[in-house]
Amino acid sequence: MLKNIAVLTSGGDAPGMNPAIRSVVRTAMEASCDVIGISNGYDGIFEGAIEKLTGTMLSGMIDRGGTILQSSRCKRFYDPAGVDEAKERLLKLGIQGLVVIGGDGSLAGARELHRRGFPVLGIPASIDNDILGTEMAIGADTAANTIMQLIDRIRDTARSHRRCFLIEVMGRNSGFLALTTAISCGAEVAVIPEFSHHLGRIVHLLRTRFEKARDNSIIVLAEGVCDAETFISQMLAQEASVSFEQEIRKTVLGHVQRGGIPTHFDRILGARFGEMAVLGLLQEESGSMTGLERGHVTLIDLDRVIGFKKHLSSELLRLARHLQIEFGDPIE
Ligand code: F6P
Repeated sequence: MLKNIAVLTSGGDAPGMNPAIRSVVRTAMEASCDVIGISNGYDGIFEGAIEKLTGTMLSGMIDRGGTILQSSRCKRFYDPAGVDEAKERLLKLGIQGLVVIGGDGSLAGARELHRRGFPVLGIPASIDNDILGTEMAIGADTAANTIMQLIDRIRDTARSHRRCFLIEVMGRNSGFLALTTAISCGAEVAVIPEFSHHLGRIVHLLRTRFEKARDNSIIVLAEGVCDAETFISQMLAQEASVSFEQEIRKTVLGHVQRGGIPTHFDRILGARFGEMAVLGLLQEESGSMTGLERGHVTLIDLDRVIGFKKHLSSELLRLARHLQIEFGDPIE
Protein backbone atom coordinates (compact mmCIF):
# COMPACT_ATOMS: atom_id res chain seq x y z
CA MET A 1 0.00 0.00 0.00
CA LEU A 2 1.35 3.43 -0.93
CA LYS A 3 2.18 5.62 2.07
CA ASN A 4 2.30 8.78 0.02
CA ILE A 5 1.74 10.18 -3.45
CA ALA A 6 2.66 13.50 -5.02
CA VAL A 7 0.58 15.71 -7.27
CA LEU A 8 1.63 18.39 -9.75
CA THR A 9 -0.02 20.56 -12.40
CA SER A 10 1.83 21.10 -15.64
CA GLY A 11 1.42 23.06 -18.90
CA GLY A 12 -1.23 25.73 -19.39
CA ASP A 13 -3.43 26.22 -16.34
CA ALA A 14 -7.05 25.16 -16.70
CA PRO A 15 -10.07 25.98 -14.51
CA GLY A 16 -10.93 22.83 -12.58
CA MET A 17 -7.33 21.96 -11.72
CA ASN A 18 -7.91 23.11 -8.12
CA PRO A 19 -10.99 20.93 -7.58
CA ALA A 20 -8.92 18.03 -8.99
CA ILE A 21 -6.05 18.68 -6.55
CA ARG A 22 -8.54 18.91 -3.69
CA SER A 23 -10.11 15.62 -4.66
CA VAL A 24 -6.71 13.93 -4.93
CA VAL A 25 -5.83 15.06 -1.41
CA ARG A 26 -9.16 14.20 0.18
CA THR A 27 -9.41 10.78 -1.46
CA ALA A 28 -5.85 9.90 -0.46
CA MET A 29 -6.43 11.08 3.10
CA GLU A 30 -9.39 8.71 3.35
CA ALA A 31 -6.93 5.89 2.60
CA SER A 32 -4.38 7.22 5.12
CA CYS A 33 -2.04 8.16 2.29
CA ASP A 34 -0.17 11.47 2.47
CA VAL A 35 -0.19 13.84 -0.49
CA ILE A 36 2.82 15.95 -1.38
CA GLY A 37 2.24 18.97 -3.57
CA ILE A 38 4.97 19.69 -6.12
CA SER A 39 4.94 23.36 -7.13
CA ASN A 40 5.57 24.74 -10.59
CA GLY A 41 4.98 21.58 -12.65
CA TYR A 42 7.81 19.17 -13.43
CA ASP A 43 10.27 22.02 -12.76
CA GLY A 44 9.34 21.71 -9.08
CA ILE A 45 10.86 18.20 -8.98
CA PHE A 46 14.24 19.66 -9.90
CA GLU A 47 13.78 22.66 -7.64
CA GLY A 48 12.74 20.50 -4.67
CA ALA A 49 9.62 22.64 -4.37
CA ILE A 50 7.54 20.19 -2.40
CA GLU A 51 5.24 20.44 0.57
CA LYS A 52 2.84 18.04 2.27
CA LEU A 53 -0.72 19.12 1.49
CA THR A 54 -3.10 19.29 4.42
CA GLY A 55 -6.84 19.73 4.63
CA THR A 56 -6.55 23.36 5.75
CA MET A 57 -4.48 24.25 2.67
CA LEU A 58 -7.42 23.20 0.52
CA SER A 59 -9.92 25.62 1.97
CA GLY A 60 -11.16 28.40 -0.30
CA MET A 61 -9.76 27.00 -3.53
CA ILE A 62 -12.56 24.97 -5.09
CA ASP A 63 -13.97 28.07 -6.78
CA ARG A 64 -10.66 29.46 -8.00
CA GLY A 65 -9.37 29.14 -11.54
CA GLY A 66 -5.69 28.49 -12.27
CA THR A 67 -3.80 26.13 -10.00
CA ILE A 68 -2.72 26.65 -6.41
CA LEU A 69 0.32 24.47 -7.18
CA GLN A 70 1.35 26.75 -10.04
CA SER A 71 2.45 25.35 -13.38
CA SER A 72 5.19 25.46 -15.99
CA ARG A 73 6.14 24.06 -19.36
CA CYS A 74 9.26 22.18 -18.26
CA LYS A 75 11.96 22.06 -20.97
CA ARG A 76 14.09 19.52 -19.06
CA PHE A 77 11.38 16.90 -19.51
CA TYR A 78 11.89 16.87 -23.29
CA ASP A 79 15.32 15.38 -22.65
CA PRO A 80 15.45 11.67 -21.61
CA ALA A 81 18.28 12.52 -19.21
CA GLY A 82 15.99 15.06 -17.55
CA VAL A 83 13.31 12.42 -17.00
CA ASP A 84 15.92 10.00 -15.57
CA GLU A 85 17.02 12.69 -13.16
CA ALA A 86 13.44 13.53 -12.20
CA LYS A 87 12.79 9.87 -11.38
CA GLU A 88 15.89 9.71 -9.18
CA ARG A 89 14.89 12.88 -7.38
CA LEU A 90 11.37 11.58 -6.75
CA LEU A 91 12.80 8.37 -5.30
CA LYS A 92 15.25 10.30 -3.13
CA LEU A 93 12.38 12.40 -1.82
CA GLY A 94 10.66 9.17 -0.80
CA ILE A 95 7.72 9.76 -3.14
CA GLN A 96 5.95 6.52 -4.07
CA GLY A 97 3.51 7.62 -6.76
CA LEU A 98 2.60 10.70 -8.78
CA VAL A 99 -0.54 12.29 -10.20
CA VAL A 100 0.13 14.59 -13.17
CA ILE A 101 -2.62 17.04 -14.07
CA GLY A 102 -2.08 18.64 -17.47
CA GLY A 103 -2.31 18.56 -21.25
CA ASP A 104 -0.85 16.19 -23.83
CA GLY A 105 2.77 17.31 -23.35
CA SER A 106 2.50 16.86 -19.60
CA LEU A 107 0.87 13.45 -20.01
CA ALA A 108 3.68 12.43 -22.39
CA GLY A 109 6.08 13.28 -19.55
CA ALA A 110 4.00 11.13 -17.20
CA ARG A 111 4.30 8.21 -19.60
CA GLU A 112 8.09 8.62 -19.67
CA LEU A 113 8.24 8.36 -15.88
CA HIS A 114 5.99 5.29 -15.98
CA ARG A 115 8.27 3.68 -18.58
CA ARG A 116 11.13 4.11 -16.13
CA GLY A 117 9.17 2.19 -13.52
CA PHE A 118 7.81 5.10 -11.52
CA PRO A 119 4.07 4.78 -10.71
CA VAL A 120 2.19 7.65 -12.38
CA LEU A 121 -1.39 8.43 -13.29
CA GLY A 122 -2.47 11.33 -15.47
CA ILE A 123 -5.47 13.63 -15.36
CA PRO A 124 -6.25 15.40 -18.66
CA ALA A 125 -6.59 19.15 -18.20
CA SER A 126 -6.55 21.56 -21.11
CA ILE A 127 -8.94 24.23 -22.27
CA ASP A 128 -8.18 23.05 -25.83
CA ASN A 129 -9.93 19.68 -25.21
CA ASP A 130 -7.49 18.11 -27.64
CA ILE A 131 -6.56 15.00 -25.63
CA LEU A 132 -7.67 11.68 -27.06
CA GLY A 133 -9.28 9.19 -24.68
CA THR A 134 -11.59 11.58 -22.92
CA GLU A 135 -14.69 13.32 -24.18
CA MET A 136 -13.83 16.33 -22.03
CA ALA A 137 -10.61 17.57 -20.47
CA ILE A 138 -10.70 19.71 -17.34
CA GLY A 139 -11.04 23.41 -18.21
CA ALA A 140 -12.64 23.19 -21.66
CA ASP A 141 -16.17 23.71 -20.38
CA THR A 142 -15.23 26.82 -18.38
CA ALA A 143 -13.27 28.28 -21.30
CA ALA A 144 -16.15 27.62 -23.69
CA ASN A 145 -18.56 29.34 -21.29
CA THR A 146 -16.24 32.32 -20.96
CA ILE A 147 -15.89 32.61 -24.73
CA MET A 148 -19.65 32.30 -25.16
CA GLN A 149 -20.31 35.13 -22.73
CA LEU A 150 -17.73 37.35 -24.40
CA ILE A 151 -19.07 36.69 -27.88
CA ASP A 152 -22.61 37.43 -26.66
CA ARG A 153 -21.36 40.87 -25.60
CA ILE A 154 -19.60 41.45 -28.88
CA ARG A 155 -22.80 40.49 -30.72
CA ASP A 156 -24.53 43.45 -29.03
CA THR A 157 -22.11 45.82 -30.75
CA ALA A 158 -22.23 43.87 -33.99
CA ARG A 159 -26.03 44.24 -34.05
CA SER A 160 -25.96 47.89 -33.04
CA HIS A 161 -23.42 48.88 -35.68
CA ARG A 162 -24.23 46.42 -38.47
CA ARG A 163 -20.69 45.09 -38.17
CA CYS A 164 -18.96 41.84 -38.79
CA PHE A 165 -16.72 40.70 -35.94
CA LEU A 166 -13.93 38.22 -36.33
CA ILE A 167 -13.16 36.65 -32.95
CA GLU A 168 -9.93 34.72 -32.48
CA VAL A 169 -10.13 32.03 -29.83
CA MET A 170 -7.57 29.67 -28.32
CA GLY A 171 -7.35 25.94 -28.93
CA ARG A 172 -3.86 25.38 -30.30
CA ASN A 173 -4.35 22.91 -33.18
CA SER A 174 -7.90 22.03 -32.24
CA GLY A 175 -11.10 23.66 -33.46
CA PHE A 176 -13.14 22.39 -30.50
CA LEU A 177 -13.50 25.74 -28.73
CA ALA A 178 -14.15 27.63 -31.97
CA LEU A 179 -16.78 25.23 -33.30
CA THR A 180 -18.66 24.63 -30.05
CA THR A 181 -18.82 28.34 -29.22
CA ALA A 182 -19.88 29.13 -32.79
CA ILE A 183 -22.78 26.75 -32.14
CA SER A 184 -23.67 28.14 -28.72
CA CYS A 185 -23.42 31.77 -29.87
CA GLY A 186 -25.23 31.33 -33.17
CA ALA A 187 -22.18 32.47 -35.12
CA GLU A 188 -22.36 32.41 -38.88
CA VAL A 189 -18.86 31.11 -39.55
CA ALA A 190 -16.31 28.94 -37.73
CA VAL A 191 -12.81 28.75 -39.14
CA ILE A 192 -11.11 25.67 -37.73
CA PRO A 193 -7.84 23.84 -38.43
CA GLU A 194 -9.57 20.50 -39.11
CA PHE A 195 -11.36 21.93 -42.18
CA SER A 196 -10.17 24.11 -45.05
CA HIS A 197 -12.02 27.38 -45.12
CA HIS A 198 -13.55 28.78 -48.28
CA LEU A 199 -13.04 32.54 -48.40
CA GLY A 200 -15.34 33.05 -51.39
CA ARG A 201 -18.23 31.39 -49.58
CA ILE A 202 -17.56 33.31 -46.37
CA VAL A 203 -17.49 36.69 -48.13
CA HIS A 204 -20.63 35.82 -50.11
CA LEU A 205 -22.43 34.84 -46.90
CA LEU A 206 -21.45 38.06 -45.11
CA ARG A 207 -22.38 40.22 -48.08
CA THR A 208 -25.76 38.58 -48.47
CA ARG A 209 -26.52 38.99 -44.78
CA PHE A 210 -25.37 42.63 -44.82
CA GLU A 211 -27.62 43.42 -47.75
CA LYS A 212 -30.63 41.84 -46.08
CA ALA A 213 -32.11 42.59 -42.67
CA ARG A 214 -29.64 40.27 -40.90
CA ASP A 215 -26.89 42.80 -41.20
CA ASN A 216 -24.39 41.67 -38.57
CA SER A 217 -22.18 38.60 -38.51
CA ILE A 218 -19.83 36.72 -36.23
CA ILE A 219 -16.90 34.66 -37.41
CA VAL A 220 -15.12 32.53 -34.80
CA LEU A 221 -11.54 31.87 -35.81
CA ALA A 222 -9.47 29.14 -34.14
CA GLU A 223 -5.92 30.31 -33.43
CA GLY A 224 -4.59 27.12 -35.03
CA VAL A 225 -5.63 28.36 -38.49
CA CYS A 226 -3.91 31.76 -38.46
CA ASP A 227 -4.10 34.97 -36.50
CA ALA A 228 -6.99 37.39 -36.86
CA GLU A 229 -4.87 39.99 -38.65
CA THR A 230 -3.89 37.53 -41.38
CA PHE A 231 -7.44 36.28 -41.80
CA ILE A 232 -8.82 39.81 -42.19
CA SER A 233 -6.25 40.64 -44.85
CA GLN A 234 -7.18 37.45 -46.71
CA MET A 235 -10.83 38.45 -46.53
CA LEU A 236 -10.11 41.97 -47.72
CA ALA A 237 -8.11 40.60 -50.65
CA GLN A 238 -11.05 38.39 -51.57
CA GLU A 239 -13.46 41.25 -51.08
CA ALA A 240 -11.71 43.51 -53.57
CA SER A 241 -13.51 41.74 -56.41
CA VAL A 242 -16.99 42.36 -54.98
CA SER A 243 -18.79 45.37 -53.60
CA PHE A 244 -18.84 44.81 -49.86
CA GLU A 245 -19.41 47.76 -47.59
CA GLN A 246 -19.52 46.20 -44.17
CA GLU A 247 -17.10 47.21 -41.47
CA ILE A 248 -15.07 44.26 -40.18
CA ARG A 249 -13.49 44.36 -36.73
CA LYS A 250 -11.36 41.83 -34.95
CA THR A 251 -11.17 40.79 -31.29
CA VAL A 252 -8.44 38.50 -30.04
CA LEU A 253 -9.73 37.04 -26.77
CA GLY A 254 -6.32 35.85 -25.51
CA HIS A 255 -5.76 34.70 -21.96
CA VAL A 256 -9.09 35.91 -20.60
CA GLN A 257 -10.32 32.55 -21.93
CA ARG A 258 -8.07 30.50 -19.70
CA GLY A 259 -8.72 31.83 -16.22
CA GLY A 260 -11.87 32.28 -14.22
CA ILE A 261 -14.19 30.50 -11.85
CA PRO A 262 -14.52 26.85 -12.87
CA THR A 263 -18.00 25.85 -13.98
CA HIS A 264 -20.05 23.22 -12.15
CA PHE A 265 -19.10 20.75 -14.89
CA ASP A 266 -15.36 21.36 -14.50
CA ARG A 267 -15.53 21.15 -10.70
CA ILE A 268 -17.34 17.82 -10.85
CA LEU A 269 -15.04 16.52 -13.59
CA GLY A 270 -11.95 17.60 -11.63
CA ALA A 271 -13.32 15.91 -8.50
CA ARG A 272 -14.17 12.69 -10.36
CA PHE A 273 -10.82 12.54 -12.13
CA GLY A 274 -8.92 13.29 -8.92
CA GLU A 275 -10.72 10.53 -7.06
CA MET A 276 -10.21 7.99 -9.86
CA ALA A 277 -6.48 8.81 -10.20
CA VAL A 278 -5.89 8.14 -6.51
CA LEU A 279 -7.98 4.96 -6.50
CA GLY A 280 -5.97 3.80 -9.52
CA LEU A 281 -2.60 4.48 -7.91
CA LEU A 282 -3.68 2.77 -4.70
CA GLN A 283 -4.58 -0.28 -6.79
CA GLU A 284 -1.11 -0.21 -8.37
CA GLU A 285 -2.30 1.16 -11.72
CA SER A 286 0.30 3.19 -13.62
CA GLY A 287 0.86 4.62 -17.10
CA SER A 288 -2.77 5.52 -17.67
CA MET A 289 -4.95 8.60 -17.39
CA THR A 290 -8.49 9.27 -16.31
CA GLY A 291 -11.02 9.80 -19.06
CA LEU A 292 -14.68 10.56 -19.51
CA GLU A 293 -16.34 8.02 -21.76
CA ARG A 294 -20.12 8.08 -22.29
CA GLY A 295 -20.56 9.73 -18.92
CA HIS A 296 -18.38 7.25 -17.04
CA VAL A 297 -14.91 7.90 -15.61
CA THR A 298 -12.44 5.31 -16.80
CA LEU A 299 -8.69 4.74 -16.89
CA ILE A 300 -7.09 4.61 -20.31
CA ASP A 301 -3.56 3.53 -21.18
CA LEU A 302 -1.40 6.53 -22.11
CA ASP A 303 0.00 4.48 -25.00
CA ARG A 304 -3.43 4.78 -26.59
CA VAL A 305 -3.47 8.54 -26.08
CA ILE A 306 -0.05 10.10 -26.60
CA GLY A 307 0.85 10.84 -30.21
CA PHE A 308 -2.71 10.37 -31.50
CA LYS A 309 -4.90 13.18 -32.73
CA LYS A 310 -8.31 13.71 -31.24
CA HIS A 311 -10.83 14.41 -33.99
CA LEU A 312 -13.93 16.55 -33.68
CA SER A 313 -16.92 14.29 -33.23
CA SER A 314 -18.96 13.62 -36.36
CA GLU A 315 -22.11 14.41 -34.37
CA LEU A 316 -20.79 17.89 -33.56
CA LEU A 317 -19.90 18.48 -37.21
CA ARG A 318 -23.32 17.30 -38.35
CA LEU A 319 -24.97 19.63 -35.85
CA ALA A 320 -22.91 22.60 -37.05
CA ARG A 321 -23.87 21.75 -40.64
CA HIS A 322 -27.58 21.53 -39.76
CA LEU A 323 -27.37 24.85 -37.91
CA GLN A 324 -26.00 26.34 -41.13
CA ILE A 325 -22.64 27.34 -39.74
CA GLU A 326 -20.13 27.78 -42.54
CA PHE A 327 -17.04 25.85 -41.45
CA GLY A 328 -15.40 24.86 -44.69
CA ASP A 329 -14.60 21.60 -46.39
CA PRO A 330 -12.91 18.44 -45.12
CA ILE A 331 -9.18 18.47 -45.71
CA GLU A 332 -8.36 15.71 -48.21
O1 F6P B 1 -2.98 24.78 -24.27
C1 F6P B 1 -3.68 25.83 -23.71
C2 F6P B 1 -3.35 27.12 -24.39
O2 F6P B 1 -4.09 28.14 -23.75
C3 F6P B 1 -3.58 27.16 -25.90
O3 F6P B 1 -4.94 27.32 -26.23
C4 F6P B 1 -2.70 28.29 -26.30
O4 F6P B 1 -2.28 28.17 -27.64
C5 F6P B 1 -1.53 28.16 -25.37
O5 F6P B 1 -1.99 27.43 -24.25
C6 F6P B 1 -0.96 29.46 -24.88
O6 F6P B 1 0.11 29.16 -24.05
P1 F6P B 1 0.89 30.26 -23.20
O7 F6P B 1 0.00 30.73 -22.11
O8 F6P B 1 2.07 29.53 -22.69
O9 F6P B 1 1.22 31.35 -24.16
